[in-house]
Amino acid sequence: MSAQDRMDVTTAHPARRYNYWLGGKDNFAADRASGDAIEAAMPGIRLMAVENRMFLGRAVRYLAEQGIDQFLDIGTGIPAPGNTHEVAQAVLPAARVVYVDNDPLVLSHARALLTSGPGGANAYLDADLRQPRAILKHPDLSAVLDMTRPVALMLVAVLHFIRDDEDPHGIVDTLVGALPPGSYLVATHATWEFQSPESIEKLSAANADGRFTPRTGEQLAALLPGLDVVEPGLVSVAQWRAEDAPQPRPAIEDVACNGVVARLP
Ligand SMILES: C[S@@+](CC[C@H](N)C(=O)[O-])C[C@H]1O[C@@H](n2cnc3c(N)ncnc32)[C@H](O)[C@@H]1O
Repeated sequence: MSAQDRMDVTTAHPARRYNYWLGGKDNFAADRASGDAIEAAMPGIRLMAVENRMFLGRAVRYLAEQGIDQFLDIGTGIPAPGNTHEVAQAVLPAARVVYVDNDPLVLSHARALLTSGPGGANAYLDADLRQPRAILKHPDLSAVLDMTRPVALMLVAVLHFIRDDEDPHGIVDTLVGALPPGSYLVATHATWEFQSPESIEKLSAANADGRFTPRTGEQLAALLPGLDVVEPGLVSVAQWRAEDAPQPRPAIEDVACNGVVARLP
């Protein structure tokens, strides 16, 4: 089925709703209605989207500065300023990035994601995080990434779309288990742990279909056993190595999203 045929504009989709919060134009009425309902319950949601995106940029730059030149970015999103390959290739022009998303609208933008700088290489896989083995054995992945050298696995603002009954632990273990020593995992995850009971009640109503699973920092940490967490640890995305970001930093209850970078021993 083509990307066009798979497009369901009557239901809110995470990539399009995130695009709406970031101020983009690639969204439909259902995405905007869902985005507005969540914003009514959590007024900081647009700030959260912006801060999550800024975290992604800082984490990729940090890793490229450590010499990491291979990235597997699952849950890519609709292209936006500061895509992973742009940030990585600004530091290491030979950086190579494999993008993965399951949204047909992201697929329809794949050309923008595939426009690598001249020294690097990108690929785009139309695939689902819930089938990690299919991602790992995809021929386009091995054409771009050398899995015998360190890779940064990026799970940025995507794990909260994996329900507990879809085995997030098994998914992360399978992906991390395929990476060589010295690789990294970058993850961010929405949390409701800093919200008031009233806000949680409204957020739960906006999530009546249960498609979204917020997790606490402790629950995110439990998804990364055996990894060495990079300083400053698992913290709000607004706080992670944000010394050069606009000050003062937003409150953690407004951003409501934790981030972490961890290294495989
Ligand atoms: C909130 S956006 C995050 C985009 C980007 N990582 C960032 O942080 O700026 C989440 C993305 O994850 C994708 N996604 C959600 N569930 C997925 C799944 N099961 N497999 C692959 N992608 C998924 C959505 O389509 C969307 O593009």
